[in-house]
Amino acid sequence: MPAPIISINHVFKDFGSVRAVNDANFEITEGEFFSLLGPSGCGKTTLLRMLAGFEVPTQGSIHIDDRDVTMVPPNHRPVNMVFQNYAIFPHLNVASNIAFGMRKSGLSKRELAGRIEEMLELIRLPGYGERTAMELSGGQRQRVALARALIKQPKVLLLDEPLGALDKKLREQMQIELRQLQQQVGITFVFVTHDQEEALTLSDRIAVMAQGDVLEISTPGALYEAPKSRFVADFIGTMNFFDCTLSEFGNGMASADSADLGRVCAACETPPAAVGEGFVLGIRPEKFQLAFDDAGATENAVKGRMGPSAYLGDRSHFYVYLEGRDEPVSVALPNLAKSLDRIGGAGQEVWLTWSDDAAVLLPSDDGTERQ
Ligand SMILES: Nc1ncnc2c1ncn2[C@@H]1O[C@H](COP(=O)(O)OP(=O)(O)OP(=O)(O)O)[C@@H](O)[C@H]1O
Ligand SMILES: [Mg+2]
Repeated sequence: MPAPIISINHVFKDFGSVRAVNDANFEITEGEFFSLLGPSGCGKTTLLRMLAGFEVPTQGSIHIDDRDVTMVPPNHRPVNMVFQNYAIFPHLNVASNIAFGMRKSGLSKRELAGRIEEMLELIRLPGYGERTAMELSGGQRQRVALARALIKQPKVLLLDEPLGALDKKLREQMQIELRQLQQQVGITFVFVTHDQEEALTLSDRIAVMAQGDVLEISTPGALYEAPKSRFVADFIGTMNFFDCTLSEFGNGMASADSADLGRVCAACETPPAAVGEGFVLGIRPEKFQLAFDDAGATENAVKGRMGPSAYLGDRSHFYVYLEGRDEPVSVALPNLAKSLDRIGGAGQEVWLTWSDDAAVLLPSDDGTERQ
């Protein structure tokens, strides 16, 4: 395992009676692109500000680069922060914005000019040094803010929703650029976002937060394919949930009964509950197949009726209503062949099938059901 550059040790932060961060306890590896992801108000910014030194933990300690920095002020930490609302000075030109904060660096004028040029190359704005910040687009301003943070060569760059103010297209483009830039400079990035797609696209690992708790830390793939709680399964992507009762477990296979689905079979290493006890089966929309007869299947097949559908170009999305279940099942299928005749008009009878290894098995009550 590579050495951790950041250790967060049982950190709590209270604002009066509000617990903003509740027992954060994890490490971030050197060179990682690490994201803090969660809904508004879950404590992401507070945790980031404690890493930056703008807040002091109520309890616990923070180590950065082998040093206890818990009580160390921001300007004495090997970190720099980039904010959402591009904190650059509109009346200064781009070069002066980037050089801001380098006054006491001890570099000669020439050295500094060279470093600014390097930074402009890095953010792909060569020759923009003399422009005033007011003449830049939103995306360009945010790149200047990045350059200003990176010129100090911090060990860790903290980014609080840095792309939040950009429109969707520019945001997607900046995501790719940000990831390339991080790989190029090799600095550890701690990135805050409430946008799960953004976190999945960019991160090596993601910490999912809710109401001050860090619920799960994992790679994007593991969070999507094998979430450990219902909250995480629901927050990352779309998941259909079905209540089940375990009837049998053996040889890595669980058999269970569900009021909505009938008899189901699911591969799992350990039983999701005791026999006779409840658990929750989660199936993502794209893990289903649609068929027009049951093909004799007795498990992992359920009859339904087609609800509304939407054509999305690369795939189509369907709602399927099951008997006795109010909430429709969300199904997504790739549009493999060219066809203008989309399957299934509303009301048509269909069968949903799925394979043994398509479902995620989750505890019924994992204490993480929140809004
Ligand atoms: N200075 C403060 N004084 C009092 N309460 C605060 C303060 N800063 C944050 N909080 C509270 O702490 C909780 C976490 O806030 P925080 O800003 O960390 O959330 P967040 O995850 O960054 O949310 P968002 O996605 O909306 O930016 C919230 O309930 C917030 O109201
Ligand atoms: Mg925030």
